[in-house]
Amino acid sequence: MKRALRIGILGGGQLGRMLLQSAANYHVETFVLESGNNPPASSVSHHFISGDINDYETVYQFGKQVDVLTIEIEHVNLEALFKLEQEGLKIYPRPSALQIIKDKGLQKEFYKLHHIPTSPFYLIHRKHELHSHINFLPVAQKLRNGGYDGKGVEILREVEDFHKAFDAPTVIEKLVSIQKEISVIVARNVQGETAIYPAVEMVFDPRYNLVDFLVSPAELTAEQNSRAQKLALDVINALNSPGIFAVEMFLNTDDEILVNETAPRTHNSGHQSIEGNYCSQYDMQMRVLQGFPLGDTETVKPSLMLNLIGEPDFTGPVIYQGLNEVLALKDVYVHLYGKHETKPGRKMGHVTILGDDKEELLRKAEFIKLHLKVVA
Ligand SMILES: Nc1ncnc2c1ncn2[C@@H]1O[C@H](COP(=O)(O)OP(=O)(O)OP(=O)(O)O)[C@@H](O)[C@H]1O
Ligand SMILES: [Mg+2]
Repeated sequence: MKRALRIGILGGGQLGRMLLQSAANYHVETFVLESGNNPPASSVSHHFISGDINDYETVYQFGKQVDVLTIEIEHVNLEALFKLEQEGLKIYPRPSALQIIKDKGLQKEFYKLHHIPTSPFYLIHRKHELHSHINFLPVAQKLRNGGYDGKGVEILREVEDFHKAFDAPTVIEKLVSIQKEISVIVARNVQGETAIYPAVEMVFDPRYNLVDFLVSPAELTAEQNSRAQKLALDVINALNSPGIFAVEMFLNTDDEILVNETAPRTHNSGHQSIEGNYCSQYDMQMRVLQGFPLGDTETVKPSLMLNLIGEPDFTGPVIYQGLNEVLALKDVYVHLYGKHETKPGRKMGHVTILGDDKEELLRKAEFIKLHLKVVA
C-alpha cells in the first residue's frame, strides 16, 4: 500500500476539527498549523504544529511537509502559498482564489467584473470619506481585511451613525432590504466537476450578527432555489479553483438574489450536512483533497442547525448546562468544539435536529435553546 497522503490544514478551529473527523475515514496523515497549544483541531490531528498561520516562513515550512494543503480560515499568509504552489504543491483552494476572497474589496470588484449580481458599493480608505457618500446611505460598512462572524461589519443608516464607523480601508455597500439570507455550498474537484448543495436559510441573532439557526433546505420556490444554485456555480466557475466554497446570498424584497460574500472553505451554513445530507461538506472537502469523485449532496431529511454560543455574562472555563435533557431527544445531534474557554458570543458548538416537519424542528429548537446553555 502507498504511504498515506499527507494533508496540511492551515487553521485549527472547529471547521478543521470537523474536517479531521471525516479525515479519519481515509488513508491520510493529517497536519494542523495554528497558534496556541490546544485549539479545537489539535487533539484530533496526527501532527499539531503550534505556529502563526500569518507568518511567511512558518507557513512555507509547514507546506513543505505535506502533499496537499488546505485552509479552514482565509486569513493566512498568501505569499507563502503562492511560493509553495509555484514549487508544485497542491493547494485547494488555490491562492489566487483566496487572494480575491480574503479582501472584501477585491471580492466585490470581482463580482462586478464577472457580472455577478451584488449590492452596489464603493471602496474607501478612511472614515472621513463617508461624507462624500451621504446620498448613498443606508450602507453596510465592512472592513476589507480581517473581519469574521459579523465583527468588521457596521450598519450606517444616517450621518448620526458615523461615530461607530471604521476608520480603515472598507467597502461601503448599499443596505439590502432582506427577505431571506441563504447560502449555497459548492464543491469543485481537480477535474473541474462540481457538486451543489441545496440552498439553506440562515436566521440571525441581531445581538451578535451571528447565525442563530439555519434551516436546510431553505423554504424557497423551486425556481428561486435553482436561481441560487446557478448563481453559486457562476461564482465558483469564475474563481476557477478546486475546493469547497460557500456562497452567502440575499433574497431581497424584490425577489432578486444578490451575492453577499463567498467563503473559500467549509462553512457554518454547512454544519447540518453532517447528518442532513448524504455527503457532508467535510467529507466533500476530503474527496476534493484526495482527487476522488464528489459525493451526493441530496438531503437525507430536512434539518435545523443551532449554533451554541457563549452566554452574554460568562467568561472562563466552559460548562455546558442541559446536555442530559437535549441528548434525550430523538434525532438531535450535539457537536461540542472542545474550546476550553467560553466568552460572550463565542461559537462553542452546534446542534443539528432532523425532522420531516418544520413545526417539529422549531419545537425541538425552542426546547434546546431553553435548556442548553454555555456558561462558565
Ligand atoms: N449589504 C447588506 N445589506 C443588509 N445587510 C447586510 C449587508 N451586508 C451584510 N449584512 C448583514 O450583516 C451580516 C454579516 O455580514 P457579512 O456576511 O458580510 O460579514 P462576515 O463578518 O463575513 O460574516 P460571517 O463571518 O458571519 O459570514 C450579514 O449576514 C447580513 O445579515
Ligand atoms: Mg457572512
